[in-house]
This record gives sequence, structure tokens and C-alpha cells, in this order.
Amino acid sequence: AFVSLRQVLDHAAENGYGVPAFNVNNLEQILAIMEAAQETDSPVILQASAGARKYAGEAYLRHLMLAAVETHPDIPVVVHQDHGTSAAVCQQSIRSGFTSVMMDGSLMGDGKTPASYDYNVDITQRVCQMAHPIGVSVEGELGCLGSLETGEAGEEDGIGAEGKLSHDMLLTDPLQARDFVQRTGVDALAIAIGTSHGAYKFTRKPTGDILAMDRIAAIHAQIPNTHLVMHGSSSVPQEWLAIIRQFGGDIKETYGVPVEEIQRGIQSGVRKINIDTDIRLSMTGAMRQVFAQQPSEFDPRKALVAAKNAARGIVKARFEAFGCAGQA
Ligand code: G3H
Ligand code: 13P
Ligand code: NA
Ligand code: ZN
Repeated sequence: AFVSLRQVLDHAAENGYGVPAFNVNNLEQILAIMEAAQETDSPVILQASAGARKYAGEAYLRHLMLAAVETHPDIPVVVHQDHGTSAAVCQQSIRSGFTSVMMDGSLMGDGKTPASYDYNVDITQRVCQMAHPIGVSVEGELGCLGSLETGEAGEEDGIGAEGKLSHDMLLTDPLQARDFVQRTGVDALAIAIGTSHGAYKFTRKPTGDILAMDRIAAIHAQIPNTHLVMHGSSSVPQEWLAIIRQFGGDIKETYGVPVEEIQRGIQSGVRKINIDTDIRLSMTGAMRQVFAQQPSEFDPRKALVAAKNAARGIVKARFEAFGCAGQA
């Protein structure tokens, strides 16, 4: 059944676990997530970005989500809009049946220019006023995602600040978070602690100076009833990087957010963990392997099934590691 983000994350908070939120664009990704959820009895958050809507089209995405719920009636499914850059985008998603929206007011409508605090409060508050009366949850964001090593947001296309970010903007301030939640009423808050979108997050395995996990407890202490969200939380598995490279891919040395760090984050109040890149890497690795090892194969389903199975492995491992398995 479709449920709101608030319902799923309230249960997660009461029972001390975290829920991975996976970005989806197509059939194989949705199949992978639903199969893993069924296997592990986990609640699901499917999230679609503006890029996903552009790729698949709103109607196809909507009907894929409907198919997921029809096929797995016992699994709770949140349909979440990732990184809305305007109130109009959020309104459109609510109309098309999303049960949760992210109003990312940390950036202006272009998805690139860092916004003022007042702009963020105002636009997020307006989205809450539109969403809450009809039972739709709202995620806000305070602070800008980006690397504490370079001051850069990382992502070249899509969502991510352009230019250098100051140290201040890269770390969410706990007291400002309290004011933000009081004034907006968001259900969930994405925080900045040094993670960024995409495969290139850290030049080395992250330590406390470049991944500020200690902030989480300080923020949680100020807003205990607001669910904290970690974006840019792919772990960038070295095994998949090795497979991509082995079969002709070119990915430079890079590190993600270790699963153990996310587990620490969950203990400090993180309830939603956004993951896109890990699914992309595993699917790309699996498809490269099929094409390289079976050069005469021309049925695309062979590669797509391998990709789906690879994604399912990642998803299942995250459900288990975050304590989500058995909670549906
Ligand atoms: O917000 C970042 C997600 O990874 C979505 O990426 O805009 O390429 O769909 P996308
Ligand atoms: P990754 O790029 O680390 O998978 O993060 C995805 C994300 O935060 C989507 O909002
Ligand atoms: Na989101
Ligand atoms: Zn994100």
C-alpha cells in the first residue's frame, strides 16, 4: 500500500532503524527494489528526481509505482519526490499521487545557486501548508551538500551548488535547524555533513574531518521529532569499481560513505538514507560484464536482468545493514 514518509519514518524512529530511499528511473530499478523488499520484509521509499521524470515521463513513472504496489500489496511504499526546486514542482508531484515531496530550498529554483535562509524558510513553509492538509509529507534541506575537502558540490548536471561553498554552508547548524523546523513544520530534514551526490565524494576513506558524523547527534538533540535525512549516502563499493574497470570502464580512485558510518548515523537519529549512485555503479558493472563475457549475446534482457540482480544485491544489503529488514 502507498503510505506517507511520516508514517514510515515514525515507525523507524520508534524502533531505532533507518530506511534507505532509492532513486528510480526505470522498470529494472523498481523490480530490484521491490524484490529485495519482499525478500527481506522491508518498507520501501522509491524516490524520483526531476531527471527521472525527464527520462521516463511522469505517466510511466506513476504507473511503474502503481505496478509495484499492485504486485506487492503487503509492502508499505512511499513515493517521494527528490529535490524539488520550486513549490510548483512539489504541487505537480502531489497531483500525480506522490505521498511525500522534498522541497529543497537550500538552492534557488535553478538547482545551482545557494539560497538565503529566509528564502528557504518561506518556500518550505508554503509547501508544508499545501502538502500537510492532504496527508503528504515534506522533507526540507538546510545547509548545502558538498565536499569539506574541496568546497565543491560534486554533481555537474542536476542538483548541486555551483562554485565554491564556504565551510559554514557545508555544515548544518543545529540551532538554525531548530528555528527552521519550528517555522516550517517539515517532517524530515536533510542535513549537510560533508557528503555530496555522485561517485566522487571523498579522495580517501573518510575520517571525522571530512565526514562530520558528530553533527548528527547535535542536530538531533535540537529537533528530536524531525526525522534526519542523509543525502549523498552511497558507499561506492570498491568491488563494483573493480568490475567496471575490469570490463573496460574508466572510474578514478574514489570513496563513498562507509556503511558503518551510516549505522552510527542511524544511532544518532538518521532515519532516511538517500542512495542512487550505488545502484548505478552496480548496474553498470553488471552490464559491462555481460557484454564483455558474452559478445555474441544481443538480447538486451540478458544484460538488464544482470543489472537488476546486481541492484537487488545492493538494496538487500542496505535493508539489512540499516535494520530495516523485518519491519514492513
Ligand atoms: O539528487 C541526485 C540524484 O542522484 C538524482 O540524480 O538528477 O541524475 O536523476 P538525477
Ligand atoms: P548518492 O549519489 O550518494 O547515491 O546520493 C543520492 C541522493 O542523495 C539523492 O537525493
Ligand atoms: Na529526497
Ligand atoms: Zn540528494
